[in-house]
Amino acid sequence: MSKNELLSEKRLASHLGGGQARIDKQHQQGKLTARERITLLLDEASFQEIGQFVEHRSTSFGLDKQKFPGDGVITGYGTIHGRLIYVFSQDFTVLGGSLSETHAAKICRIMDLAMKNGAPVIGLNDSGGARIQEGVVSLAGYADIFYRNTRASGVIPQISVIMGPCAGGAVYSPALTDFVFMVEDTSYMFVTGPNVVKTVTHEEVSSEDLGGAKTHAEKSGVNHFTAANDVECLKKVRDLVTFLPQNAYELAPEPRSFKFSANKLEQIQHIVPDNPNLPYDIRKVIDCVIDDESFREVQEDFAKNIVCGFARLEGRTIGIVANQPAAMAGVLDIDASRKSARFVRFCDSFNIPLLVFEDVPGFLPGTDQEWRGIITHGAKLLYAFSEATVPRVTVITRKAYGGAFDVMNSKNIGADMNYAWPTSEIAVMGAKGAAEIIFKREIAEAENSEEKWKEKEAEYAELFANPYRAAERGIVDDVILPQETRAKLISAFKMLENKAESLPKKKHGNIPL
Ligand code: HXC
Repeated sequence: MSKNELLSEKRLASHLGGGQARIDKQHQQGKLTARERITLLLDEASFQEIGQFVEHRSTSFGLDKQKFPGDGVITGYGTIHGRLIYVFSQDFTVLGGSLSETHAAKICRIMDLAMKNGAPVIGLNDSGGARIQEGVVSLAGYADIFYRNTRASGVIPQISVIMGPCAGGAVYSPALTDFVFMVEDTSYMFVTGPNVVKTVTHEEVSSEDLGGAKTHAEKSGVNHFTAANDVECLKKVRDLVTFLPQNAYELAPEPRSFKFSANKLEQIQHIVPDNPNLPYDIRKVIDCVIDDESFREVQEDFAKNIVCGFARLEGRTIGIVANQPAAMAGVLDIDASRKSARFVRFCDSFNIPLLVFEDVPGFLPGTDQEWRGIITHGAKLLYAFSEATVPRVTVITRKAYGGAFDVMNSKNIGADMNYAWPTSEIAVMGAKGAAEIIFKREIAEAENSEEKWKEKEAEYAELFANPYRAAERGIVDDVILPQETRAKLISAFKMLENKAESLPKKKHGNIPL
């Protein structure tokens, strides 16, 4: 065999992973192979593999007779829409994609390259976890990855795509990254699987219910984006990347060409109902302000009372956080605070300007919330906004009550521009509750208490259920019509383009985790 033939043979062996039978099994389960996934993720023919011939060095439990070139993970770099991306893709056909010492070292190598060269890392996860035959060295390999995930956090975007099992401590790498994608029916994540759960808590639960894409999208919030299958998932990842900068030292990608349908300026005037107690979908407001079809909602099935996502304004990326009156009246609770705080932190890390739409009646009352720590969790959002130095603009569409007014990117916690629509009510609380407290005696002593209450409610509403008290004090910068909003925002973000603000020198803050 010539030297060139030997190379061809080795390349072929590496491309076959764990063999055709296992590749067929992967396909039968509706899953693509690790290489097929990379091909779909990256621009055509852009993938350059690193470490194709790496093999493990273990001899225990007959592993010396089970060697596969690449050792169960394909690593390298390529481009998405022409921009550099580092990628690893675990190959379930090789020893269940399990993570050995060398498998981990390959992942660490591309993470190190990504950090040095300032480009995102995308990890395609499909693994049975730590390679059981290797014992502690595979655990150490995971720790090497977690350490790098943490060091890279806020420096380069990190995206985890779960396309098969991801169990045990392995889940902590995705958890440390910025965004998690999951594929319906074929992916799951949990710290302990159904069998352990049954032994310890006597609960009977399927893998899907315990840690499938839907569970993590709706219940835990671990999953940011769900896809129906591998192909759709990889398309969504490619799309998300177009909104992001390469690293913390760059701005988001150059503005793209955009469309804006003029009829939205008419539509936006009729979204907020006349009755302040009626709900409306804040996503309609978002849609009427941003470039056509540019909204990408993050964690759309989790904490629906707050909407977070990326969008474009005249082709430029922005991050949007918006109270959602259509879900629990847009109240802030623990999950909404956690969800939005993390999103704000991401945007701030990566120079993405923040736009906030505010319609919030306050924090959710009750023992459940108090005992589970709404104080600490609500403070996360307050902290995240207060610390953010990117351009920050708020539009109050209706209610801005109480502490939630302060938290939702108020000027006093550093927002650059705050606008209010004429429908705004900026007050310590709703008129009814306020009247009950401050006119308690008068209401009690009145001949007709109900009547008196209504009268006092109207008095309070007259004074505060509008944006003008706040505007008189400069707490909002301007009162604007809904149809003026897009133009105002474009102008404000342009004005703030060169904003330079730095935090006091410190090692790091102590965010209320
Ligand atoms: C070595 C493994 C493996 C592992 C699977 N395989 N997981 N080999 N280490 N962790 C091998 C199997 O032996 C099998 O080899 C092949 O991969 C395919 O696995 P199957 O079981 O046939 O596949 P399937 O039926 O689809 O089941 C997938 C699975 C199951 C649910 C993931 O394999 C499984 O439960 N694996 C163990 C999961 C686990 O407990 N991992 C440790 C988690 S703790 P053959 O040769 O028969 O095809 C952990 C700690 C991390 O990861 C700590 C970080 C701090």
